[in-house]
Amino acid sequence: MSGPLTGKVALVTGAARGQGRSHALRLAEDGADIIAVDICGQIDTVLYRMSTPEDLDETVAEVEKLDRRIVARQADVRDAAALNQAVAEGIGELGRIDIVVANAGIAPMSVRESDDLQTFLDTVAVNLTGVYNTVHSVVDRLIEQGEGGSIILTGSTQALSGRGGNGSGAQDGYTASKHGVTGLMRTWAYWLAPKNIRVNTVNPTGVDSPMVNNEVVAEWLEKDPDAAGVLANHMPVPVVAPRDISAAVAWLASDESRYVTGVALPVDAGFLIK
Ligand SMILES: NC(=O)c1ccc[n+]([C@@H]2O[C@H](COP(=O)([O-])OP(=O)(O)OC[C@H]3O[C@@H](n4cnc5c(N)ncnc54)[C@H](O)[C@@H]3O)[C@@H](O)[C@H]2O)c1
Repeated sequence: MSGPLTGKVALVTGAARGQGRSHALRLAEDGADIIAVDICGQIDTVLYRMSTPEDLDETVAEVEKLDRRIVARQADVRDAAALNQAVAEGIGELGRIDIVVANAGIAPMSVRESDDLQTFLDTVAVNLTGVYNTVHSVVDRLIEQGEGGSIILTGSTQALSGRGGNGSGAQDGYTASKHGVTGLMRTWAYWLAPKNIRVNTVNPTGVDSPMVNNEVVAEWLEKDPDAAGVLANHMPVPVVAPRDISAAVAWLASDESRYVTGVALPVDAGFLIK
């Protein structure tokens, strides 16, 4: 069965679970083969459980059920050499690259004792430097191919708003890194438009994934009851589903959006118009 992305190859980071897995599955449903990368391990300043190798195996199994090919590798987006190697192996096996979804991220919000500066540094390293490394792992190949491409960076409503700021290393790091992602999107969109390579961000509000659906966040919201109200959407929905974000990613990946570039696209249930 063919779809709008048949014959294309998509790199998805943070693909072991949550939105990354959902994006991999949606792009595969639309016909793409997948290069899936995830750290599948813990970062010390992140107090909720991060992904495991079994999570990445599950993504592989689900993509294969759709009859698409997938090359999955464990790599940390902060480690450019490891990431370049993983991506090179994926391109080697699947033959090309067309779509990049730089989705891996951390949000170590917590009320527990934490090292604020280290939390800030780790968050910026994953969410901003990791996006830089991800795009640079493929962009030369995309340019060489000469057939255009679509790069989608995962921002956040926190890429466009400071609402909920509380001075913690986690919040400062998250908001600063996601604003930085908006900047990378804009400068890359300018750079790459003449080569028919489009660059956009998708900017989710709260998404029902293990990043927010965990005991650390529950504890944080319990200790700061105002935070839930401050971070509430304007539409009557507490969190959106990963599939809601994947729908926007699939559209940005497809030729349906062929002249859309340099755009930050909120999927935010009205969060940003409040
Ligand atoms: N969940 C939300 O409410 C929400 C809202 C807005 C934006 N986002 C963003 O969406 C993206 C996906 O988050 P999610 O909700 O699916 O959370 P998640 O925690 O379920 O998934 C994130 C994935 O990224 C991986 N990852 C983290 N650091 C990595 C690293 N250094 N190298 C490689 N992989 C790494 C994790 O192992 C995990 O599998 C993130 O960029 C996040 O900041 C999430």
